[in-house]
Amino acid sequence: MEVNSVLVTGANRGLGLEFVKQFLSLPNSPKHVFAGCRNPDKAEALQDLQKIHKNLTVILIDLNDTSKLQETVKVVQGKLGEGQGLNILLNNAAVASGDNLEKVNQESMIDNFRINAVGPLMVSKAFLPLLRSAASHGGSLSVTNAAIINISTGVASITENDTGGGYPYRTSKAALNMITKNLSVDLKKDNILVAAVHPGWLKTDMGGTRATMETDEMAKKLLDLMATFQSEDYTGKLYHFSGRVMPF
Ligand SMILES: NC(=O)c1ccc[n+]([C@@H]2O[C@H](COP(=O)([O-])OP(=O)(O)OC[C@H]3O[C@@H](n4cnc5c(N)ncnc54)[C@H](OP(=O)(O)O)[C@@H]3O)[C@@H](O)[C@H]2O)c1
Repeated sequence: MEVNSVLVTGANRGLGLEFVKQFLSLPNSPKHVFAGCRNPDKAEALQDLQKIHKNLTVILIDLNDTSKLQETVKVVQGKLGEGQGLNILLNNAAVASGDNLEKVNQESMIDNFRINAVGPLMVSKAFLPLLRSAASHGGSLSVTNAAIINISTGVASITENDTGGGYPYRTSKAALNMITKNLSVDLKKDNILVAAVHPGWLKTDMGGTRATMETDEMAKKLLDLMATFQSEDYTGKLYHFSGRVMPF
């Protein structure tokens, strides 16, 4: 996949960090890779990468505090330069409370909704002018032109839910799926592709050690999958990492 710029949220660890590593090691690495995290000063893995990769910029994105988003947009805009938009926004940051019916409470529901659904929507809204700018350079609806990719999960599929439980995570990611579909409808006229992907069960802090897949393997699979998003047929859908379109 060849793009000028990409921004990944939740990039200091887990799948987000691996996305950043893989974008940086592409044969035609983007001119600008923006790695969003809550504590840029403490993001050691990203700081180490920055010493080697001059095209990497670590930026502040805290989904609990979206009041600073405009400052971050200005930093990104400054790096991109006049008229150069942002090609890909990858909304990856998330939290997962698997509270069942006995445990679930208002706090865990609101916390997961704030970070997993409201957060990506606010980030998408804040970076819209830069995505529109990239889209205005022409071409068809495609990931290499301008796209928002939301990292969702298979357990948020309402149709495929046959296990119950996991209220905060499942419902907040189901809301993210609706946000994905809604944005795809609203932004079609702007030539911005919007899709959600399910990365499978990963060996990260969230997925735990019993998970079945490594982040490097999955980030590669997902980059290959995203690279196929080259027409309007791909917008507004939830993709399993295998490429299967999952029912919402
Ligand atoms: N792991 C799995 O098995 C699995 C399965 C399906 C889908 N997913 C999805 O894949 C994505 C990546 O998951 P992962 O396994 O890599 O998770 P992870 O290892 O727990 O990493 C989560 C990332 O999100 C960031 N984050 C959390 N709260 C944030 C906030 N308020 N503001 C900004 N960033 C915040 C974390 O930053 P801090 O270090 O600052 O907390 C971290 O960078 C998520 O969207 C997840 O829902 C994962």
